Amino acid sequence: MLKGSGRKNFSFSLTDVVSISDFGRADIEAVLEKAAAMERMPREKKLKLLRGRAVASLFFEPSTRTRLSFETAIQNLGASVIGFADANVSSVKKGETLSDTIRVVSGYADIIIMRHYIEGAARLASEVSNKPIINAGDGANQHPTQTLLDLYTIKKAFGRIDGLTIGLLGDLKYGRTVHSLAQALSLFDNIKLAFIAPDELAMPQHIKERIAHKVSFEEHAELSSVLSELDVLYVTRIQKERFADPAEYERLKDRYVVDRKALQGAKETLKVMHPLPRVNELSYDVDSTKHALYFEQARNGVPVREALLVLLKDVRKW
Ligand code: CP
Repeated sequence: MLKGSGRKNFSFSLTDVVSISDFGRADIEAVLEKAAAMERMPREKKLKLLRGRAVASLFFEPSTRTRLSFETAIQNLGASVIGFADANVSSVKKGETLSDTIRVVSGYADIIIMRHYIEGAARLASEVSNKPIINAGDGANQHPTQTLLDLYTIKKAFGRIDGLTIGLLGDLKYGRTVHSLAQALSLFDNIKLAFIAPDELAMPQHIKERIAHKVSFEEHAELSSVLSELDVLYVTRIQKERFADPAEYERLKDRYVVDRKALQGAKETLKVMHPLPRVNELSYDVDSTKHALYFEQARNGVPVREALLVLLKDVRKW
């Protein structure tokens, strides 16, 4: 039986959301529970929860879903949003350091959401800020809020997370979403993970070592060798922007294409997830199948991010 399963009113203890490795299972369950409550809450009640507060949204890297779902969540909670979607319009362009930017913004905002291209940037920000930091993705390292919405999506689809067999496919080396997700899933019981990637893009050793004693995993080069066992197939993009050598990207970019044909032999109940954006790795012909869960997954970003903002407010006792 899974630790913590079946309980209600889990407590959330974190003062920042920097890495999924800072989360215990109770923290994750608290977010999932609060997100479900946010979905049920009447709009007028929700609007009062952060009324009069300012939330900073600092994006040093491009984003559609994370930035816009956070900004939707902020507005749904009655707070105002400040920030930038392009660091080139900020004083970073004049050479201002990240530490100084964060110190200054923490004087304006009650919570800071930040996406940065440098691994560890969110941890640094949390060390210099006197306001909560939410990591909206730091380089190839972590994307904890994506993981929380991924877990929420899985729980909504299956009614549980425990006991599922989940395949992670594509760029497991540079993919921050799969790094965070593998670690989070290792907190649940009887999970089986299948890492499906070419050797060049395999799950990093440090992640495998971290989860090895908690969860069972296998590595596969081909989807076909494990497809029939999967409850969830989590597809990721081969990320051109993370490759130092463009020729290596060209060689690997079309290594996997998940289309209707590739899904033949899957369980009827298989759900295909993708953090999006997609390029060629996930065919549009999957969209109209019963397997496609990725647009609902993107929509779930709003209640999960509302939940995080409210939980951080409660922990900080505003
Ligand atoms: N899934 C995700 O992080 O998407 P964006 O890069 O558009 O925010």
